[in-house]
This record gives sequence, C-alpha cells and structure tokens, in this order.
Amino acid sequence: VKAIVYEKYGGPEVLELKDVPKPVAGDNEVLVKIHAVSINDWDLALLDGTSFVNRLISGLFKPKKKILGSDFAGTIEEVGKDITQFKIGDEVYGDLSGQWGGFAEYVCANEKALAKKPNTMSFQEAAAIPQAAVLAVQGLIDLGKMKAGEKLLINGAGGGVGTYGIQIANIHGVETTVVDSEPKLDMLRQMGAKHTIDYQKEDFTKNRQEYDLILDTKTNRSVIEYFNVLKPNGAYVTVGGSMGKLFQFLLLRPFISLFTKKKVKIVMLKPNKDLAYINELYEAGQIRSVIDGHYTLETTKEAMELFATARHKGKVVISVL
Ligand SMILES: NC(=O)c1ccc[n+]([C@@H]2O[C@H](COP(=O)([O-])OP(=O)(O)OC[C@H]3O[C@@H](n4cnc5c(N)ncnc54)[C@H](OP(=O)(O)O)[C@@H]3O)[C@@H](O)[C@H]2O)c1
Repeated sequence: VKAIVYEKYGGPEVLELKDVPKPVAGDNEVLVKIHAVSINDWDLALLDGTSFVNRLISGLFKPKKKILGSDFAGTIEEVGKDITQFKIGDEVYGDLSGQWGGFAEYVCANEKALAKKPNTMSFQEAAAIPQAAVLAVQGLIDLGKMKAGEKLLINGAGGGVGTYGIQIANIHGVETTVVDSEPKLDMLRQMGAKHTIDYQKEDFTKNRQEYDLILDTKTNRSVIEYFNVLKPNGAYVTVGGSMGKLFQFLLLRPFISLFTKKKVKIVMLKPNKDLAYINELYEAGQIRSVIDGHYTLETTKEAMELFATARHKGKVVISVL
C-alpha cells in the first residue's frame, strides 16, 4: 500500500511516496482505509527535526516513526477481537498524536482515538477537525470559561484553531476580534468574526480595546503586552506558538497571581475528548471546516510547503483516494 515516508529530517522535499506493508490490526485496534488526512504543526516540527526535545522523542539522528500524519478520517476495514465500539464499514475520524501514520492509505488505530463521523460530514471536513477544533474547545470552554456577552480576541486566527474558535464563540454568544494577515481577514469575517485586525498594520496590544478572553495560537508577545488589553478579571489562554515565550509564561505564572486577577493559562491538548460535542455542532449546522487547496498523497510535498509558509487558510487537507 502507498504511504508518504520520511527517512531523514529536513524540509518537505524529504517526503517520498513509497510502497509499505499493509498494517495488521492488533486485538485492540481497527484497520482503517484512510480517505483524508490533515496537516498539523506537529507534522512539520517532526519533519524538520530542528528541536532537540522533539528529537529525543522521535529519534536523535533519524526518525523512528517514518510516516507522519495524525488527524485522519476513513472507513473501518477490519476490527481486532477486543473492539467493542466499532464494526467493519463504520466511517470514523480522530487524532493519532504520538502514534502518527496518517499520511498513508491504511492505518491501525486504537478505538479510543476514534469517533464516528456524521453521515453528512465529508471525510475531508472530518480530517480537518481533530486537533484544531478540540484545541479551540479546550481553550475557549474548558480553560477560557467564556460566557455570553463577553469579548474575545483570537491572535493568529486564520488557521485551524482560529476558524473553529470563531464559530464556537459565536454559538456561545461571544463577540470575536481576530488578528491575522490581510489575505485571511475576509474569510474570517465570513466565519463570523465581528472585528478584524491586520497585524502588519495595527498592533492589537496598543489599541484601546479590552477583552475578557484572549485565545492565542502564536504566543509572540510578552505577558505585559497581552495584559494591556485584558479586562481586570480577564484570561489569556495559549494553545501554542513560540516555545521560548511559552516557557517564560510557565515560569512567570505563579508570580503573576500575586499581583493581578488576570490569568495566564496553557492548553495541554486532551486528544479526541471533544469530538462528540463537535459532531453535535456539525449536525446542528453550527460548525464547518475551512479547507485550503486540493491535495492528494502524490502532492503531499506541495501541501506541506503551503503549510510551512503559514499562508494557508483554515486547514490543509490531503485526500487519499
Ligand atoms: N497545546 C497543545 O497541546 C497543542 C497540541 C497541538 C498543537 N498545538 C499548537 O496549536 C497551534 C495550532 O494553531 P493553528 O493550527 O491554528 O495554526 P496555523 O494554522 O499555523 O495558524 C496560525 C495563524 O497565525 C498567523 N500569524 C502568523 N504570524 C502572526 C502574527 N505575528 N500575528 C498574528 N497572526 C499571525 C498565520 O498567518 P500568516 O502567516 O499569513 O500571518 C496563521 O493564519 C500551534 O501553535 C501548535 O503548535 C498545541
């Protein structure tokens, strides 16, 4: 069967389409025929291998797991003998973080990593959802505790987390301001953003607006800058971005609470936890995926190149035919 394999760390050019053995499901696994897979930040980070910490996990000199890809959707073809929740023919999707293997025609997955896909949801839409939508739910609801009538700012809103975040905020009656580059702002207004800020023209930390909640995918400013535009009881929630800044925030957090009621929170993704909730929203017509481009396994390099430039709108999805 076909898969996108990488044997050494590098840019998208080291990705190769190869024949690999068809995986065999263990007793507590299902074998899924993949129809679509989306690209996440982790795929890029594990591909380039520039982080020493990541190399400790993924192999010091060369990658141990040679097929990337975590957020996928497909049809169950075989079930292991201990599987209770799924049967052959079920259409499923989920996040294989830590296991990977989604850039391929087939993958084996534990049933804990899977949710049933609503019939009306396409495989491409489903593959876009897992990490991005779940991070948005955990950032806005679990940690951010957003409430109707509040004002939210999403920094770096034009990718996966932001495009789901705007829609989830709207459902909760929260007014969203988004920060991103100009080419993405029209799309973000269409997704329901009330106000838009082009970060190349305007510095949101210096305008006079105040927010109850900030959701950040970039973490590219200092705590003081974020606090400048937070209301007195407001919360800053980051899902990721600059590792240096994230580390600083972790160290500063215990001291911050001595001086202010404003809070700093960091989302540690609980994979797949909220897919049932996302299914409910989808079936009620309240949420959709924004997908950039039409890619296949053969054009995965190009898809990864687009993702690496961050010029994509919403999610980059690869169709596996
Ligand atoms: N916490 C966890 O456990 C966990 C797990 C998985 C992933 N993550 C993290 O979650 C995040 C995923 O977010 P995502 O998928 O939505 O990212 P994304 O698709 O890369 O989107 C980020 C957006 O930020 C914009 N941007 C770039 N520079 C900016 C700036 N200076 N100011 C404002 N916006 C800027 C980019 O557009 P332009 O470049 O065109 O401006 C892009 O639209 C990543 O940081 C990832 O590492 C966290």
